[in-house]
Amino acid sequence: MIHIENLQKVYEDIPGHVPAIQQIHLQINRGEIFGIIGHSGAGKSTLLRCVNLLERPSSGTIQIDGEEMTRLDSRQLQAKRRKIGMIFQHFNLLSSSTVAENIAFPLKLAGMEQAKIQARIQELLDLVGLQEHANKYPNQLSGGQKQRVGIARALANHPDILLCDEATSALDPQTTKAILALLLDINQKLGITILLITHEMQVIRAICDRVAVMEKGLIVETGKVLDVFLKPQHPVTKDFVGQVSDFSTSSGNDQGIIQSDRHGTLIRITYIGEQTYEPILFETVKSTNVSFAILQGTISSMKSVPYGQLVVELTGGHQEEIASVIAKLEQEGIDVEVLTP
Ligand SMILES: Nc1ncnc2c1ncn2[C@@H]1O[C@H](COP(=O)(O)OP(=O)(O)O)[C@@H](O)[C@H]1O
Ligand SMILES: [Mg+2]
Repeated sequence: MIHIENLQKVYEDIPGHVPAIQQIHLQINRGEIFGIIGHSGAGKSTLLRCVNLLERPSSGTIQIDGEEMTRLDSRQLQAKRRKIGMIFQHFNLLSSSTVAENIAFPLKLAGMEQAKIQARIQELLDLVGLQEHANKYPNQLSGGQKQRVGIARALANHPDILLCDEATSALDPQTTKAILALLLDINQKLGITILLITHEMQVIRAICDRVAVMEKGLIVETGKVLDVFLKPQHPVTKDFVGQVSDFSTSSGNDQGIIQSDRHGTLIRITYIGEQTYEPILFETVKSTNVSFAILQGTISSMKSVPYGQLVVELTGGHQEEIASVIAKLEQEGIDVEVLTP
C-alpha cells in the first residue's frame, strides 16, 4: 500500500548538508500497524512527513496504492492527503474552537454540507468516546481527551492511512494504554493502515505488527515485532528492547544469574501463543533423568499474543540427555538459548 524507495531528505539549512534521512526503503502493507522507533533526531518525523508530502523529499519515491506522490499536482495532492489522516504529539487542536468545530474542520475543507457534517461529527464522537464533550474547548480537556479529538479529526474524511507522530509521548502510561487501545480498535474495525513513530518500545510492543528501527537517518533493522524482540540484531535495537524491563535478551541483564555458582546447564526459553500456558517443560523432562529449576520467569503479551520467558537450570543426566531435552523443546516450537558457555 505504501512503497518507499531510496528516499532521502536533506534540509538545505544544515551546515554540511547532512541528510535527515537517506537510503530509506519501506513496504507497508494494507491493514497493518507499522512502527518506526528511533532516538530523537533519528529522522522519524522527517520520514513520516514525507509520506504525505508535508516535507518534499530530496530524492527517491513514495508510492501509495501505486500512485507516485511526488508527481501529483497540487489539486491531486490535496485529494490524496484527505485519505491520509495525521495525529501529533501535541495534538495541534484549534484552541478557540470547540471539540465539534475541530472535528468539523477537515469536513468543511472537503466541502461537505452542514447536515452531513453534524451527522459525521456524532459518529466520530461515538467512535472516540467523547459524546459528552462536543461543546468543550481544548483547554477544558485532559491530554487523552485532546488526543481523542485529534484522532476523530484525522479520521473525519474516512482515510485509508493514519500517520501518528509520537501520538502518546505527551501522555501518562495509563492514558497511553487507552489511546493505543483506541488505535488498535480503529485499525481492526475500520481496516485503516497505521504508520506510527515513537521512541518507546512499549508502544511498539502493544500494537505494532512490524517495526523499523532508525538511527542517524537510516533504517538499521526491520522485521516482525516478535522477531525483533526475540532476536534484536543492531545495538540500537538491543537498547530499545532493553527498555522493556520485563523482557530480557542475550544483551539483557541476567548476567547475575549466569555468573552465580550454578553447576547445571542454564537455558532461556521463550514460548509464544497458546503454548505459553502449557507445562511443556515438565512433559519434556518427565521420562528423562534431567530435572529443572526455574530461576526467573515472566509472562506477558505482544499485541494480543501471549508469550513467556523462563531462565531454567537443567541438572542431572548426561550432556547428551540434556542436549536431547533442548532438542525436544525446540521441536515443540520453543525458542531455546543456552546461556552457559
Ligand atoms: N525543518 C527542518 N529544518 C532543518 N533541519 C531539520 C528540520 N526538521 C528536522 N531537521 C533535522 O533533521 C534531523 C532529523 O529530525 P527529525 O526527523 O525531526 O527526527 P526525529 O523525529 O527522529 O526526532 C535532525 O537532525 C533535525 O535537527
Ligand atoms: Mg520527531
